[in-house]
Amino acid sequence: MLNTPFSPISMHGAGIAHLFRIGLVMCYCILGLIIGLVAYACVRFRERPGRGQPRQIFGLTWAERTWTLIPLLLLASMFGLTAVTMSDTDPQVPPSNPDLVIVGHQWWWEFRYPHSGAVTSYELHVPAGKNLAARIQAADVIHDFSVMQLGRKMDAIPGYWNYLWIDADKPGTYPGFCNEFCGAEHAWMTFKLVVQDPGAFAAWEQHEAQPAPAPATTEQKRGEQLFQQETCSNCHTIRGTRADGRIGPDLTHLAARSALGSGVLPNTRDNLFRWLKSTQSIKPGVHMPNMQLNDPDAEALVAYLESLK
Ligand code: CUA
Repeated sequence: MLNTPFSPISMHGAGIAHLFRIGLVMCYCILGLIIGLVAYACVRFRERPGRGQPRQIFGLTWAERTWTLIPLLLLASMFGLTAVTMSDTDPQVPPSNPDLVIVGHQWWWEFRYPHSGAVTSYELHVPAGKNLAARIQAADVIHDFSVMQLGRKMDAIPGYWNYLWIDADKPGTYPGFCNEFCGAEHAWMTFKLVVQDPGAFAAWEQHEAQPAPAPATTEQKRGEQLFQQETCSNCHTIRGTRADGRIGPDLTHLAARSALGSGVLPNTRDNLFRWLKSTQSIKPGVHMPNMQLNDPDAEALVAYLESLK
C-alpha cells in the first residue's frame, strides 16, 4: 500500500482525504474548463487572411456576474466542508489527562504513555480502533508530528501544548516523519506508527512499563557499570537503575526497538557497536558526543544494551 494521505487508516484521516479529493476534483474541473476555453479561443478567433480586427466588447454585465458568482459559490462550499471536517478532527476540549504525550527533540521523538508509565522512542505503538488523545510538545525547537495515513499532522512547539486525535483502526506499521525543518538531522527524525490489536498492544505496553531487566552475564554487568561511569546516564534513562537523564531517548527497552538513531540504522549488535564508536559519522550533528570508547568497553556496553529487551 502506498503511504499517501489517500490511504487513510483512521476515521479522521478518511474525512480529510475525502475533503482533499473534493478539492482536487474541483481544481481539475476548473483547469479543464480554462484550458478548453483558451484552446477554443485560439482556434475560433485565430488570424485569417481577409479578416479584420475582432469587435471589442466592454462591460458585459451578465458575464461579470457569472464569473464572480461561480468562484464565490465554490469557495463558500469549500469553506463549509473544511469547517465541518475541522470540527470533526479537532480535539476541541484539550484533554487534561491525555492517553499519549509526544515530545519532539532534536532529532528523535519521545512517546510517553502517562496511564502506564511506559516511555519509548522511535516506535509509537497504539491499539487499533481506539481514539487516543495525544498531547504534542517540543523540547527545543519547532517540530511537526506527521503520519500521512492519519490525515492530520500537528506542530510541536516549545512552551506550548497542541492536541491531536490518533484513531488508527487498521493494524500495521506506518512511516512517520518530522515535517518541519528543525536542524541538521531533520531528515532522520523519523518514527514508526505501529497499530496493534488491542490485546497485543496491552501486552506491549505492560512490558514497556516495566523496569529494565537486570544484567545477567559478567560482560553485561560491566556494561552497566560503564553506562553509569561514562556519563551515558546523564542523558539517558534506564528505568530501574540510577540512570535518569532526560536529554536523550529512554533506553529501558532499547533492545525491543527495531532501529537506532531514529531510524538511521537497523537495531543489530554490529550497528549498535558502530553507533557507540562513531555516532557523528553515522548521524552528523547528533547531540550524542563521541565517547572515545575502546573496543572492549564498547563491546561490554553493546552486551548490556542488547540485553534490555
Ligand atoms: Cu524535527 Cu524536523
